[in-house]
Order: sequence, then C-alpha cells, then structure tokens
Amino acid sequence: MQDVSALILAAGKGTRMKSDRPKVLQSLLEMPMLWYVYQVMDELIGPERIWTVVGYQQELLRTAFPDRIDRFILQSDQLGTGHAVQCSLQALVQQGRRWCLVVNGDVPLIKARELRRFVLETIRRQALVGFLSLELDDPAGYGRVLRQEDGCVRMIVEEKDIEGQAFIRDVKEVNSGIYCLDLDRVQPYLDRLGTTNAQQEYYITQLVDLCVQDEKPVLAVNSGHEARYLGVNTPGELASCEEMMRGRIIRQFQDKGVIMHNPDQVRIGPQVDIEAGVEITGPVEVYGRSQILSGAKLDSHLWIQDSRIGARAWIRNFSHLEGVIVGDQCQVGPFTRLRPASELRTGAKTGNFVEIKKAVLDTGCKVNHLSYIGDAYLGPEVNVGAGTITCNYDGKNKHRTSVGKQTFIGSNTALVAPVSIGAKCVIGAGSVVTKDVPDEKLAVSRARQKNLDWKNKRGRGS
Ligand code: UD1
Ligand code: MG
Repeated sequence: MQDVSALILAAGKGTRMKSDRPKVLQSLLEMPMLWYVYQVMDELIGPERIWTVVGYQQELLRTAFPDRIDRFILQSDQLGTGHAVQCSLQALVQQGRRWCLVVNGDVPLIKARELRRFVLETIRRQALVGFLSLELDDPAGYGRVLRQEDGCVRMIVEEKDIEGQAFIRDVKEVNSGIYCLDLDRVQPYLDRLGTTNAQQEYYITQLVDLCVQDEKPVLAVNSGHEARYLGVNTPGELASCEEMMRGRIIRQFQDKGVIMHNPDQVRIGPQVDIEAGVEITGPVEVYGRSQILSGAKLDSHLWIQDSRIGARAWIRNFSHLEGVIVGDQCQVGPFTRLRPASELRTGAKTGNFVEIKKAVLDTGCKVNHLSYIGDAYLGPEVNVGAGTITCNYDGKNKHRTSVGKQTFIGSNTALVAPVSIGAKCVIGAGSVVTKDVPDEKLAVSRARQKNLDWKNKRGRGS
C-alpha cells in the first residue's frame, strides 16, 4: 500500500438527514461517523496520507478533528462528488503516490481488510478506475451499476437520473461510494466531467462511463450482500448502521469473555475497553475511553462515560458516572451520580441519592445516603451520615473540604468550606461546621436542646 493515498469526501451537507449538523458528524455510539472512517483509513494507509475534502460547516469538522486539519482540502461550493475530487487532485498529485483510495465519508461500517484487497486488485489489474459494488434487496437511493451482456461494467446511473426506466430501478447491484483511482491517468477524465444530470452536479461516478467509452480499464469489484458498505443518508439509515456497529462491538466483547444479560440493550462505544470476566445487565451505556476491569459487575440502567471501573467493583442500578475512577471492590449506587474528577479508592462506597464532584473518597470511605460531596478529600474509612452537604460554593468561588481518616460525620451536617476536619473526629448530627476541627475531637454546632413545659394551667397547649 506504499503507493496509495486516501481521500475522504466529507464536504456535503447531507440534505436527506434534515439536520443542520454536517452528516459526517452525526454520531454512532457517541462518536462521529467520520471518526470510524478515519480509524479504518489509519490502519490501512496511515494518517499522514489521508486527505479530507471539507466544505459545509467546515469549522465544525476542524473542531472535531484538530489533528487532521493540515490535510483538509476546502471545497467551498459543493458541486458534487466529482467536483470534490477535482478540488483535491493537485494536493494528491503533489504527494507523489500513484493510487488514491476515495471513500465517501458516510460509510462508517467499512473494514480495512476488504478495502486492502480491493485496492490491491485495482492495482494488479492496472485499472484506471476501480470501484466496489454491493447487492441490495432494496437499492433505493443508490447509484445502480449497469453491465454489458458480457458482464463488463458500462456505467453507474444515479437514482435521480433513472427517470422511470423501471429496468434500471430494479437493478440490485449498487455503487458503494468507494473508488480507487490511478492519479497518473485519471486527470483528463476528471476534466471532462459534466453537469448534465438531474442534480446538475459533477458526479465522480461519471468517470466510469467516460473511461468505458474510451475503452480504458474499469474494475467493478462486486462484494455481494455486504452491509459494511452501506452509506448513511437518512436518520433511519443512521439508526440501522449504529445498530450494526453496536452488534459488532457487543459480539467482540462476548467472544472475549464478557458476560451480558439482555445484550440487545447494551451500548458500548468503540474506544471502550472491557476485560474478560466483567458481567453486564442491559440496558447499559458505556462510552468514551472507559475501562472496566475484570470481575466488575454493571447492573442495569447505567450511563458511564470516560471512567475507569476497578476489578470486582459493583455499579448498581440507575447510576451515572462521568470522568471518574472507581477503585477495586468499590460499590456505587443504586442512584449515585459521580461527576468528573472524582475518585473512589479501594472498597469505598456511595449509596442512593449521593452526588460526588471533584472529590476523593479514600479507601473504605462510605457515603451511603442522600449527600453532596464536592471539592473534597475524605480520608480512609470516613463514614458520612445521611444528608451531609459540603457547602463548597460561596456564590463566587469554590472551596475545599478535607476530612481525616476514620472520622464520623453525623447526619444532616453542613460542612462549610474551606474547612478541614481532623482524623478520628465525630461531628454531631445536624451541625453546621464552619471552623476547622483538630484530630480526635467531638464537634457539635447546633442549638442546645431545651425541654420546656408547654401545657398551661388549664391543661392545654398555649
Ligand atoms: C453517492 C454516489 C452513489 C452511491 C452512493 C453510495 C455520486 C454521484 N453518487 O451518492 O452512486 O451509490 O454515494 O453511498 O457520487 N460530498 C462532497 N462534496 C460534494 C458532494 C458530496 O464532499 O459536493 C461528499 C458527502 O459529504 C458524502 C459523500 O460525498 O460524504 C457522498 O455524497 P452523498 O450526497 O451522500 O452521495 P449519494 O447521493 O449517497
Ligand atoms: Mg451517501
């Protein structure tokens, strides 16, 4: 593949999505469609030889893929897929590779192995243009591949150009939108593309009939019923492709030894790592760069993003974790929310209706009920009673709370930050703690209870 570069066509709006967002940025399992195409191209060609044609809302693509903008090519007016290639030719030729794999940016399910075979076959046959076709029971929306009686390719007819010719409409072989071009020889044909078609656009597909007319070699590799070349054009197709990608990822983890109950409702992003011996019950969503270590158990109704779940940790139902580290053998939930930059160290526990933000709960620490702990450090084996709040925000700034090891915080306590509580302290229930507490003290800060006579002389309350 040394003599091959790649071009990804991603300048179009994707009108049929009926969305303002560029189509290639629509997400599958929380990653943009184009990201999947890049992964495959990186594996096959290497990032330094991948060019991307951008146009519609290109600034959003620049933000999404900042590492790649050096190889973005601008197509200011999107005059069609052929025009996108015309705009890129100079950059491609300058790079000095003879062959170019051109891929529509809307085919997220492609795989490197088949593409490599297709490119090598095009090169072996010295075709001027190669393309991949597939067979679809429902070919609607795709360009149809017309062949001559001897089976050789004649042309590709776009859906909108069929104009009632039923026999073309019934053709099941369609163009996948994946091409391999010989840059040394294709230029004169690119120059000859026209716009006399229903969409008045320059079609890359017209290269096929121009070359055939000139008796230049064109190769169509029919890949049969290959779902992995399906293009995404509508919200329905996006959902189908996402579902296929989801199934692919689930099967990979099952093969590796991840146990899943209700796997149809488990959604795992493509960058997630889950070790063998993890047990998951759907519905569960795990995204980003999450990592789940062996023996961890994920109960149903969880949302986990960019988090590390330690070995034999148990994440119980209805919990929401984002950007956190949960240590080995921790227990979280039911109904816990762990917000970014929080860490639970080995064996720590958080229970129902507990929110933790930017806080460390050291080994064996427990926050079991109805609490908010933010901008805090809780030492080993600290026990936090129900309804404890760290008052970390004074209306302008955030302040920190720290609690030493084995301290017991009574229920319904407000810890007004900045405040530091020592080790082995007890804080009386209902306290509002505004001053530091040294080690091993009992701190109580609430009105002393008075028991008053309340009945008047006639025996009734006043
Ligand atoms: C295209 C093919 C069709 C094929 C189908 C496969 C053409 C004319 N037709 O149709 O034969 O069956 O893909 O999915 O190519 N783009 C640009 N600049 C433009 C226009 C489009 O970069 O000016 C990009 C889009 O962002 C998209 C890709 O090219 O990623 C394909 O465009 P799209 O409009 O989806 O083409 P289809 O109608 O699907
Ligand atoms: Mg398309």
